[in-house]
Amino acid sequence: MEEKKNASRRGFIKKLGTAAAAVAAGTAVIAAEKHEPFLCLKRQPFVSINDNINIALIGAGGMGTQDAIVALQVPGVKLVAVCDLYDTRLKDAKARWGADIFTTRSYKEILARKDVDAVIIGTTDHWHQQISVDAMRAGKHVYCEKPMVHSVDEGPAVIKAQKETGKVFMVGSQGVSSLGNEKAKELLASGAIGQLNYAEGFWARRNPIEAWQYPLPADASTQTLDWDTYVSNTKKRPFDEKRFFRWRNYTDYGTGMAGDLFVHLFSSLHFVTGSHGPNKIYASGGLRYWNDGREVPDVLLGTFDYPKADVHPAFNLSLRCNFVDGTSGTTYLRLVGSEGSMDVTWDDVTLKRNKSFASDDPFYLEQLRKSGNGNAGRKMILPPEQMTYAAEKGYKGGPYDHMVNFFTAIRENKKVVEDAIFGYRAAAPALLCNDSYHQDRSILWDPEKMQITKKQ
Ligand SMILES: NC(=O)c1ccc[n+]([C@@H]2O[C@H](COP(=O)([O-])OP(=O)(O)OC[C@H]3O[C@@H](n4cnc5c(N)ncnc54)[C@H](O)[C@@H]3O)[C@@H](O)[C@H]2O)c1
Repeated sequence: MEEKKNASRRGFIKKLGTAAAAVAAGTAVIAAEKHEPFLCLKRQPFVSINDNINIALIGAGGMGTQDAIVALQVPGVKLVAVCDLYDTRLKDAKARWGADIFTTRSYKEILARKDVDAVIIGTTDHWHQQISVDAMRAGKHVYCEKPMVHSVDEGPAVIKAQKETGKVFMVGSQGVSSLGNEKAKELLASGAIGQLNYAEGFWARRNPIEAWQYPLPADASTQTLDWDTYVSNTKKRPFDEKRFFRWRNYTDYGTGMAGDLFVHLFSSLHFVTGSHGPNKIYASGGLRYWNDGREVPDVLLGTFDYPKADVHPAFNLSLRCNFVDGTSGTTYLRLVGSEGSMDVTWDDVTLKRNKSFASDDPFYLEQLRKSGNGNAGRKMILPPEQMTYAAEKGYKGGPYDHMVNFFTAIRENKKVVEDAIFGYRAAAPALLCNDSYHQDRSILWDPEKMQITKKQ
């Protein structure tokens, strides 16, 4: 394995050398070359197949609506029904997609419809598991928003339903389908940052909407929304509009910063590295500013130990989220290796390499000697220290690619990039972060068996 790694690293360095030479010689750098300081990431156009797929949306709030809009850009996809507990969202759906769309407050009515092939689940987190399982058992393919489940004990039922029904099940962390994540995976495998030893991710926010203080609609009441159904699978409480519209702040319905945001970073990290997840999870944080009755912290730090696996060495992960961050609006995922680092987004990857990396590489030194440049006294020509691979203009983005991946799997009976097992392995460490924070202890997790490891 070591030899294979060295070989791929040499391959990467060789390509890097070619690109560097082109830059040094003043050659026009065009996007067709593989490893250049600025390289366009391209996506082949999706070719439609004539099978039409009828979809229904369950949970027509912000993200569900956005998911449906993106899904409808995929050729041959038609929206036939929409479900939500709040009437205004159903009216909005008819206004957006036409009066002939079937609307209902009851997701079971959607599942009973013969004309629905697949559902998008964009409800609050606490309904993901039940609706996903019911939908697959009713014969529907499912695209479920992240996090796949609301608590760690809910995952196995979704995996079981997917296995038993054979339905396509996709979780909605769209980044894993993006050109940026794919490029990062390829670069890591080619040895671009050497041996991975550390990764970190961060979300910084400051404004009230980003910190989950959403506006409360004037018409919100038990007449206009189905509160009883909303709380029917969790603790029964009297109507509280904040718990309905600002659900992320409450543990009965949401999954805090970790379930909302860390889960995207886990998904991308696991996709890029091929990892199944960490075996130790510890979180700390606190409620520093948004004292609006929320039950979850507004600053959260998580540290995670990833054990050595067939596809990667042991490494550590550090994740942070801050909703009182004066710098505002930042998010990143960085992978750090022995020879460089990569900043990974859905649309680009910035690769940074240690300036002196080439000097100790036997392959590079041999090439240098052969080219007659082995004179120690002479200055060397160095490859670029930083390269950005960016998606070409007009790229439709990870969300579109993710939907294409989902519908292609349905049409061609293929695997999706983020199935129930992948989704659970991304959600579990995020959800265990919450458990660690609330229980004030570290938690051991078996990423292969997907179980909490009992402490001896
Ligand atoms: N992938 C992403 O980038 C991304 C971004 C934002 C949100 N999300 C996820 O999407 C989901 C929705 O988030 P949002 O921001 O759109 O919230 P939202 O409050 O805007 O929408 C949630 C909707 O679900 C409805 N709902 C709740 N329970 C229901 C039930 N049993 N049956 C039918 N409808 C029900 C509510 O009435 C509401 O309209 C969450 O799981 C969230 O984590 C994903």
